[in-house]
Amino acid sequence: MTSTSLDPVRIGMLFSQTGVTSVIETSQRIGTMLAVEEINSAGGIQGRELQVVSHDPQSRPSLYRTLAERLIVDDGIRVIAGCYMSSTRKAVIPVLERWNALLLYPTLYEGFEYSRNVFYTGAAPNQNSVQLAEYMTRKYGTRVFMVGSDYVYPYESNRIMSDLVLERGGEKVSEVYLPLEAKRADFDALVQQIKQAAPDFVFSTVVGEGTAMLYRAYREAQLDPARMPIASLTTCEAEVRQMGAEFAEGHITSAPYFQSVDTPVNRALVPALQARHGPDQIANQCLEAAYFQIHLLADAMRRADPDDVESLLRALPGSEYDAPQGRVRIDEQNHHTHLRPRIGRVNASGQFDILEESKERVRPDPYLVSHTLQDWSVRTGLRSQA
Ligand code: ACM
Repeated sequence: MTSTSLDPVRIGMLFSQTGVTSVIETSQRIGTMLAVEEINSAGGIQGRELQVVSHDPQSRPSLYRTLAERLIVDDGIRVIAGCYMSSTRKAVIPVLERWNALLLYPTLYEGFEYSRNVFYTGAAPNQNSVQLAEYMTRKYGTRVFMVGSDYVYPYESNRIMSDLVLERGGEKVSEVYLPLEAKRADFDALVQQIKQAAPDFVFSTVVGEGTAMLYRAYREAQLDPARMPIASLTTCEAEVRQMGAEFAEGHITSAPYFQSVDTPVNRALVPALQARHGPDQIANQCLEAAYFQIHLLADAMRRADPDDVESLLRALPGSEYDAPQGRVRIDEQNHHTHLRPRIGRVNASGQFDILEESKERVRPDPYLVSHTLQDWSVRTGLRSQA
């Protein structure tokens, strides 16, 4: 398709507004739109408006694939922002590679993947799992009970966490998966199993609607996060609000961004979100990645031909942006992002108190080529905030 200098630059957006992961994906949609609005207010891409074509994939991997193909083939779009669950990203990749389109993926994931057609702006395991394993085994002990939703991210993430805990001489007490559509009674039964096993901590890779059910069942069974917390990579401000802060308080998450991060750029983010999208808006790690990746894209588009994928593939690697979490950079070698690991604990107001944070941003190592805890405790330089 040819375009004139006045045509809008169009990108696609695939975040679910319905289905099990709609709460977090709605926040990613808002993060994307906030960046697009800011870019257009500042003159767009070389004077052209950045326009978004959006569909609702309903949290269903097959629909992500169908809608990605529709965006590319029917709408002539070459860049898509989208996907939360790894199963949805994996469904889309063959379509991207076949048509040479790009996906900007703003979600933490299990690593062990590279596609020339994907830019990964959420945390890789060496930027969240390694730090979480190190923190939890140091503070709570090495007996871990693993619970996850039944799909690829939890399986792979638990495998990585097992290796890291075993390396400390620890023990995987149990590993349990529940369907994405599990009901509250399933979580009540699971919590009884946890109570009986009495691990040092729980590692949860439950996502979506199940997250609130797990934490509520845990609190209502009188399990005490001060002695035996749930540790997670996914439970962030959006899920905490959904379950209610009283159920989340005291539990721990490892992520490169929390709304409570104190940077000048982050101090401006929440007021901007609330001004444009309503006074109830809050931020989280997935919203932040969805936001800064569009700014990275716009910067690349201004230096490149915004309609040409090969030109963007040359412009995006190595690009940097002052994100709310701190300055981020797309790695030249692996298309993942240099990010700043942090450990947070939910407080009574539903925000995260930051317990430790890396002094420097950490280079993504999606294949965990260097994966021992010792390697990373030196290289991440996690530093206590308390
Ligand atoms: C995920 O499935 N990457 C959270």
